[in-house]
Amino acid sequence: MLIDTYGRVATDLRVSLTDRCNLRCTYCMPEEGLSWLAKPDLLTDEEIVRLVRVAVTTLGVTEVRFTGGEPLLRPGLTGIVQECAALAPRPQLSLTTNGIGLARTAGALKEAGLDRVNVSLDTLRPEVFKTLTRRDRHKDVLAGLAAAHEAGLTPVKVNSVLMPGHNADEAPDLLAWAVEHGYELRFIEQMPLDAQHGWKREGMITAGDILASLRTRFSLTEEGAGERGSAPAERWLVDGGPYRVGVIASVTRPFCAACDRTRLTADGQIRTCLFASEETDLRAALRSGAPDEEIARIWRQAMWGKKAGSGLDDPSFLQPQRPMSAIGG
Ligand code: GTP
Ligand code: 5AD
Ligand code: SF4
Repeated sequence: MLIDTYGRVATDLRVSLTDRCNLRCTYCMPEEGLSWLAKPDLLTDEEIVRLVRVAVTTLGVTEVRFTGGEPLLRPGLTGIVQECAALAPRPQLSLTTNGIGLARTAGALKEAGLDRVNVSLDTLRPEVFKTLTRRDRHKDVLAGLAAAHEAGLTPVKVNSVLMPGHNADEAPDLLAWAVEHGYELRFIEQMPLDAQHGWKREGMITAGDILASLRTRFSLTEEGAGERGSAPAERWLVDGGPYRVGVIASVTRPFCAACDRTRLTADGQIRTCLFASEETDLRAALRSGAPDEEIARIWRQAMWGKKAGSGLDDPSFLQPQRPMSAIGG
C-alpha cells in the first residue's frame, strides 16, 4: 500500500510516457518547445510495464492513467496498454491526450484494453485553437473525440482551460456542445505549471468565474456530498441532469486532503504531487538490477513523505522545476 503520514492511500498511478508534444498550448510551453528528455533517459516500454506491475500487484494501485506531454506520440503505447491490461488484478486504464492521432488509434487502443480517454479541447473556434495551441489542428481533435466515442472509450471526458484574451467567453458554448455530443466536460483552473513561469493568480479565470458564466445559460445544481470521492473535479448537474459538468479548481478549491495519486515521469522519477519539489529516482534502482521488493520499498518510502498540500497558498510557494508536460498532468 502507498500510504502517507496523513493517512492518504495512493491507488491512482499517473504515468507520463513522453515529455514531447505536437501542440504548444500557451499555458504550457513556449513556441520553440522545450529541451526534451534524451532517449536513453526515458524508461523503455518494458521498464514502464514492470513498474506498473509492481504498483498493481504489490502496492495496491487500481487505476493507471497514461499522460504526456502527448502520450499518443509514444510508439509503444498500444503494447504498453496491452501488457498492463493483462496484469492481475487488472487495473482500470485511461489516457489523457490532446486527441491528435486518436482518430487513427482509438480502435486499436480499445482493443488493447484501454478503458477510457480524457481529451483536451479549449475552444470550438478553429482560429482560437490556432492561437491558443499555436498549431492548426482543431479538426484532428474533433475527429479524435468522435473516434474515441465511437470506439467505446467512454465516458469520453473533455478538459478545457479558459484563458483571458482567447476563449474566456466560451464556457456556455463548450457546455452546449459537450451535452449535444455526450462528452463529459470539465473546466480546469490554470495552474502555475507552465514552462515559462508566466502564471499569475490575478490573471487566471477561477471556478467562481466559470460557474457564473455557465449560469447565464444553464441551471446548475451541486452533486450530493460525498459523490466526489478523490476526483479532482467537482461536478454539477446541468438543467436538472442527467448531464454533469465538472470544474477542477486546483487553485481556488484545492482537493489535496483527498488526493489518491502517485506519479511516474517518463524518465522514471516518482513524484508524490504535481507540485512536489522533490522526486525519487526509480530508474537508477531499476537499471542497477533491484528486485521488485526493493522497487516497492523505495516507492513506499517516497509516498510516505508526501506533503499535506500543494503549497500554492504559502507565501513561499515556488513553482516546480519541471513543467506540466514533463511531470505528466
Ligand atoms: P478522471 O479520473 O477522468 O477524473 O481524470 P482526472 O481529471 O484526474 O485526469 P486528467 O488527466 O484529465 O486531468 C485533468 C486535470 O486535473 C489536469 O489539469 C490535471 O493536471 C489535473 N490533475 C490531475 N491530478 C491532479 C492532482 O493530483 N492535483 C491537481 N492539483 N490537479 C490534478
Ligand atoms: N494549468 C491547468 N491545466 C493545464 N493543462 C496543461 N497545462 C495546464 C496548466 N498550466 C491541462 C491540459 C490537459 C490537462 C492534462 O492539463 O490542457 O487538458
Ligand atoms: Fe501539449 Fe498538453 Fe502542453 Fe498542450 S497542454 S502543449 S497538449 S502537453
